[in-house]
Amino acid sequence: CGIVGYIGHRDAYPIIIKGLQRLEYRGYDSAGIALYDGSDINLAKTKGKVEDLKKKAEAEIALNGSLGIGHTRWATHGVPNDVNSHPHYSNSGDLVIIHNGIIENYESIKKELVKRGYKFHSDTDTEVLVNLIEEVKKKENVKLGKAVQIALNQVVGAYAIAVFDRKKPDEIVVAKLGSPLAIGIGEDEFFIASDATPFIEFTNKSVYLEDEEMAIVRLGKEIKLRKIKDDAIAYPLIQELQLNLEEIEKGGYDHFMLKEIYEQPRAIKDTFRGRLRTEQGIIKMAGVDQNIEKFLNADRIIIVACGTSWHAGLVAEYIFEDLVRIPVEVEYASEFRYRNPVITEKDVVIAISQSGETADTLAAIKLAKEKGAFVFGVCNVVGSSIARETDAGAYTHAGPEIGVASTKAFTTQITVLTLLALKLAKHKGMFSEDKFHEFLTEMENMPAKVERALQSNALVEIIADVYKDSENCLYLGRGFNFPVALEGALKLKEISYIHAEGYPAAEMKHGPIALIDEHMPVVVIAINKGHYEKVVSNIQEIKSRKGKIIAVVTEGDEQVKELADHVIEVPETMESLSPLLTTIPLQLLSYHIAVMRGCNVDQPRNLAKSVTVE
Ligand code: G6P
Repeated sequence: CGIVGYIGHRDAYPIIIKGLQRLEYRGYDSAGIALYDGSDINLAKTKGKVEDLKKKAEAEIALNGSLGIGHTRWATHGVPNDVNSHPHYSNSGDLVIIHNGIIENYESIKKELVKRGYKFHSDTDTEVLVNLIEEVKKKENVKLGKAVQIALNQVVGAYAIAVFDRKKPDEIVVAKLGSPLAIGIGEDEFFIASDATPFIEFTNKSVYLEDEEMAIVRLGKEIKLRKIKDDAIAYPLIQELQLNLEEIEKGGYDHFMLKEIYEQPRAIKDTFRGRLRTEQGIIKMAGVDQNIEKFLNADRIIIVACGTSWHAGLVAEYIFEDLVRIPVEVEYASEFRYRNPVITEKDVVIAISQSGETADTLAAIKLAKEKGAFVFGVCNVVGSSIARETDAGAYTHAGPEIGVASTKAFTTQITVLTLLALKLAKHKGMFSEDKFHEFLTEMENMPAKVERALQSNALVEIIADVYKDSENCLYLGRGFNFPVALEGALKLKEISYIHAEGYPAAEMKHGPIALIDEHMPVVVIAINKGHYEKVVSNIQEIKSRKGKIIAVVTEGDEQVKELADHVIEVPETMESLSPLLTTIPLQLLSYHIAVMRGCNVDQPRNLAKSVTVE
């Protein structure tokens, strides 16, 4: 979910609506807004997108006032409908709250409150929380800030909340545990949001709350942070934001996803800029340099991640094992954290996360730290929770990724992990200076090669048109390109809702081959390296069962061209670096198919860009 708040001297409504639109990547099942007009609260909420909320608010409520909060939701408790949308009132109608996260013990609290006469209108845990705050406030006869603190000490779960009181409209109380919360500091005004994008045109000063911190954001006062548990004062670290507006707008592209696909040559370059020093024959990564012994002495590397980032982890497994000869395990963060994993001080855990906020990944690294492992983060969002929680790390520097389906984050994660592997391999003396130099040079060539891979766009669009109505699609790859097949399938199912599966090409004969008939498109990554001949045999197996073959091949390939229905060429490169190229046409294929099917590419149904709940 995304939350926004404003208190100051401007009209709150446009700031909040625009802010919600920028945060829509965090969830878009429903949206709502509450504005204080000088005497009363005006509230509008609806199932659907922020655009729907805008229509509803403009038709139904007064929009004046310079205090307000807004929310865009990714449903956890309660189906997405008007009633379950945020903000939620307390029973008296004085308090109004927005919440991102989950209150796990809400049922027991709700029972207590019902006994005391509270009525509930929604199925949400959030409505329970706001009434708990109200009850504490009344019973203990305390101010809102104190009541929020006492209430939060009774709840189990995760939250980022913003709440205000109609009777004391000079402040908003905010608190955080698990879910992110930033406060933007302007001249006599404050902004509250899940990330800084809603307020970058107003201020570049912001404070990020740490877990278990709260703040009373009051007009005319400086921000004061408190620890929720023991009331200790915490000193806010005011950060200067580096974001600019251009980066978070579409810049002439129809969708963020397409823009981000095309940004990849630049993004990959930004990822290795300053790190790759081919002339000197070194790779510089501060977070690795300072901890090089930890890496070199590691018994194994455990990679934890979710979604696309997990796929980047799988690619890294192949690269690390091949180049560094360190055993690697790649784990879904959610499985890792709940299965009592064996971790020791001799393990290095690498957490990969675009947002740096994914709740399961965050919890996994906390567990790994408790067990004494050294934890290294690969994040895109600077200053994010995972970036802060890890012992060291390397940013991907891909720039903001807004499209829910991850593209440039994936290729830049692979870039960072490749640099790391090359660096460790060099330290371990795994290859000659010449070989190392060859790798660095090829890495430097990558942006231009990705650019060339993007030239397949027009052809991919034609292929997309042929298969846009398919109901299923199979993706096959081997070795370094097996994770690319998984990622290709994930992209297609995420944004076009076509059922797609990724499989190791050789494993096809143990199951998926049963699905192949003349209606089944099969995307095969068949570059001229590694087990090329074996992949060619797999292609033959598909062909003899009348499957339709879309092959991603190396420029100039002849053999596969004979067999496949369509071939998409990518430039030649080393096998271990090839995922950076083979993934490009697969991103474009899913993009075009989704557009042709009329899907909302940037905001596919039911998904959210950053999943801050378990
Ligand atoms: C969500 C997004 C995916 C992303 C995954 C992990 O499911 O929709 O695109 O890969 O979360 O997110 P992270 O920010 O940790 O990389």
